[in-house]
Amino acid sequence: MAYAKEQRLVLNNYDKINPTSIDEYVIRGGFRALRKALSMSSAEIIQELKISGLRGRGGAGFPTWLKWSFTAPIEVDQKYIICNADEGEPGTYKDRLIMDKDPYLLIEAMTIAGFTLGATKGYIYVRGEYPHSQKILNTAIANAKMAGMMGNNIFGSGFDFNLQVFSGAFAFVCGEETAIIESIEGKRGEPRIRPPYPGVVGLWGKPTVINNVETLANIPAIINNGGRWFANIGAIKYPGTKIMTLSGDVANKTFVEVPTDTTLYDIIYTFGGGVVGGNFQAVQVGGNSGGLLPASLLETAIDFDSMQAIGGSLGTGAVFVINDRHDLLDVVKNVAHFFTEESCGKCTPCREGCQRLYDFMNKVCEGEATAKDLQIAAGLARVMNKTALCGLGQAAPTPVQTAIKFFGKKFEERINAK
Ligand SMILES: Cc1cc2nc3c(=O)[nH]c(=O)nc-3n(C[C@H](O)[C@H](O)[C@H](O)COP(=O)(O)O)c2cc1C
Ligand code: SF4
Repeated sequence: MAYAKEQRLVLNNYDKINPTSIDEYVIRGGFRALRKALSMSSAEIIQELKISGLRGRGGAGFPTWLKWSFTAPIEVDQKYIICNADEGEPGTYKDRLIMDKDPYLLIEAMTIAGFTLGATKGYIYVRGEYPHSQKILNTAIANAKMAGMMGNNIFGSGFDFNLQVFSGAFAFVCGEETAIIESIEGKRGEPRIRPPYPGVVGLWGKPTVINNVETLANIPAIINNGGRWFANIGAIKYPGTKIMTLSGDVANKTFVEVPTDTTLYDIIYTFGGGVVGGNFQAVQVGGNSGGLLPASLLETAIDFDSMQAIGGSLGTGAVFVINDRHDLLDVVKNVAHFFTEESCGKCTPCREGCQRLYDFMNKVCEGEATAKDLQIAAGLARVMNKTALCGLGQAAPTPVQTAIKFFGKKFEERINAK
């Protein structure tokens, strides 16, 4: 366990530069990747991303090169790149670390994305609760424009690119990629029915690529060092590093950037300093949409596929540690309540399902639930997984489902308790 080491790729400049100083960014190698990318073809950049194996860090783990490859060849008057910086999943603040401490990294990455995709306009959709990040980004964009690194004819390449910061609408669902598009278009932030996918019909009906902050922040290093270099870091199928943010009953409520083959055990004990206030009971990985996992699964690597294989999810990389002094069922009830508040109400499985799962957990906590209630809740959860319109409703049952799966004894003890 003592061998686990932090490796900072996307947080390489964290606290090493004045975040709004473009000169300090350039001294540490900033904009080298953009210059290099501007001398490459779109196909060459996508090929490098393919070799790298980079997959989305926003929760769904989709291969970045594949997403880009749908949009890049489309010939149309306007395409868009959107950076998803809504970061609404509880316990998650990884994207804020990048925006606040290294804003030019994101600007450089988005410009490379714009060039590759043929998009001349980009939006950074920043969580409404992050006014500081918005300010830093706006300052950095203005400085980049003045230095000729944004706007018309960047580095004399003939490529024009402009970026705009757009404030989020203070709702968890607005982090869903099609809800972002609706929100930027000035409508209520509700997910769209797909297909068509945004890569083909996105913002204002134009092809649009949406990527997470952390995903994008990996790209300059991949361009500089090559896809093969990146592919050799961390887990084979989900290479690179991941920023993990720790909260709850853990000694060090901190963040770490680690190779993706690092285990959950190391995150909690080596970097987190172990459990405080009691003994380990459970860990919830990936925010409220993530699964509750028992001690027996702590040796699992944090990469996307390993987490999925055990019935959990990497999600955003939030790690919420729960000691044995807490009533775990009460924790699950609170999480279920979160989804009743955040469901946008557009589709029935989620609008009704979230409320019913919360009602069920209330009954469980009161000792009033029956075995039949448990059976119905498990069935309802499966229906939500399969039929909800967006990831919110599909993932909302995960905490209840994993609690039943891994901590079923606690449910048994409460069933018919009254
Ligand atoms: C309810 C909900 C909220 C989401 N919030 C975020 C978010 O805050 N940031 C993010 O990058 N992705 C979020 N996503 C995932 C996005 O829809 C999308 O998959 C992601 O931005 C794609 O970027 P990536 O491929 O770089 O991971 C959310 C999804 C759902 C269903
Ligand atoms: S799953 Fe929930 S959040 Fe998503 S569209 Fe349906 S009601 Fe809205």
